[in-house]
Amino acid sequence: MTTSPSSSTKPLVLDVRVPSQDLSYQVRVGSGLLARLGTEATRGREPGRAALISDTNVIKLYGTVARQSLEAAGLSVITRAVEPGEASKRPEVLLELVGELVAAGLGRRDVVVALGGGVVGDLAGLVAALFMRGIDFIQCPTSLLAQVDASVGGKVAVDLPGGKNLLGAFHFPRAVLIDTDVLQTLPDRELGCGLAEMLKHGALFSVEHFEQLCEHTEALYARDPVLLPRLVAISVALKAACVSRDPLELAGGGKGRVVLNLGHTVGHAIEAASGLALRHGEAVGLGLRAAARLSVAKGLCEPGLEERVVAALTALRLPTELDPWLHGEQGEAVQRVLCNDKKRAGATVTFIGLAGLGEPRTLPLPPAEILPLLRDASPR
Ligand SMILES: NC(=O)c1ccc[n+]([C@@H]2O[C@H](COP(=O)([O-])OP(=O)(O)OC[C@H]3O[C@@H](n4cnc5c(N)ncnc54)[C@H](O)[C@@H]3O)[C@@H](O)[C@H]2O)c1
Repeated sequence: MTTSPSSSTKPLVLDVRVPSQDLSYQVRVGSGLLARLGTEATRGREPGRAALISDTNVIKLYGTVARQSLEAAGLSVITRAVEPGEASKRPEVLLELVGELVAAGLGRRDVVVALGGGVVGDLAGLVAALFMRGIDFIQCPTSLLAQVDASVGGKVAVDLPGGKNLLGAFHFPRAVLIDTDVLQTLPDRELGCGLAEMLKHGALFSVEHFEQLCEHTEALYARDPVLLPRLVAISVALKAACVSRDPLELAGGGKGRVVLNLGHTVGHAIEAASGLALRHGEAVGLGLRAAARLSVAKGLCEPGLEERVVAALTALRLPTELDPWLHGEQGEAVQRVLCNDKKRAGATVTFIGLAGLGEPRTLPLPPAEILPLLRDASPR
């Protein structure tokens, strides 16, 4: 698969502000952008060395175009590809990669390029954050989930045996290059996971985006060359506006990026309880349904929100069956994860609810109460 500048249209450019520090960056969204990676990596700097970090699936598809673009801009490139999947997001792989940067003689003025899904972005971003106390990195997200979510906001991490993303940092990319052409090769199931995160952005910040996603599902799965970049850019803009208001997740009172956890408290617990059965985005979709149900049960919003979320998940070809995860052995497994949630502050978790679409609210809740509330409010 190649992407060339000649096949590209003008990219949409979004600014992500990091106000307290001189760390703002631009996100470019469009067709054919991967072939312009070298230009991006050398913008305002002398060409030096680049560590292109990817996974073995993505490197086969896009490694050549990325590498050639970097080399054409005068960079000397080392390429490393990890095994695909969450298992690569661990400290051993992180240290191996840092060791390879040392062995290749990279220095403080060089750059790490993350080419892949959210696993590669999180891992390579943490490599860049730690190597020599932090060097530049560029995000080239290739899964829809990474394009609309993981690559924007500066959170980088690996997992520890005790939980996901427990060893991490904020390290803002110098630029994010979102080439929507690469979604042609992304399996539909992975595309659906990204759509779930886009739906979350709509539910949090824009009823219009929420509705557009449901209306254009066919075109999105067909990778429509006009609609896909446009809706990706809108979703990124919604997330970017949120993280720009609260770059380091310090804002209290539900005003900051904490609201991005919508659907993730229950979603993460279901994902963990499912073993490998559900992908992250699929579990987040069920978490959105749970958030809608709980919001109604707590009197935050009018009845009908859960039905709206279920209709949207159905339109986007995502799982909708929440109740099997609330009962029996599966329910017990979900409950165990909920009660170990790292986001627990004292005896409560900051559950994100909705007063309606586009109106996020925080609900401090004891984790042990979430599942019983969801069971009691079940429409069955
Ligand atoms: N940092 C953040 O703010 C943030 C936000 C959300 C998720 N995440 C993290 O992101 C990770 C999940 O990311 P993901 O869903 O992208 O998973 P992933 O990186 O494992 O990618 C999913 C699969 O798609 C393949 N793939 C990626 N792009 C492809 C393409 N264009 N064509 C064909 N195959 C392709 C990958 O090789 C992999 O097999 C999790 O570790 C999660 O914690 C981070």
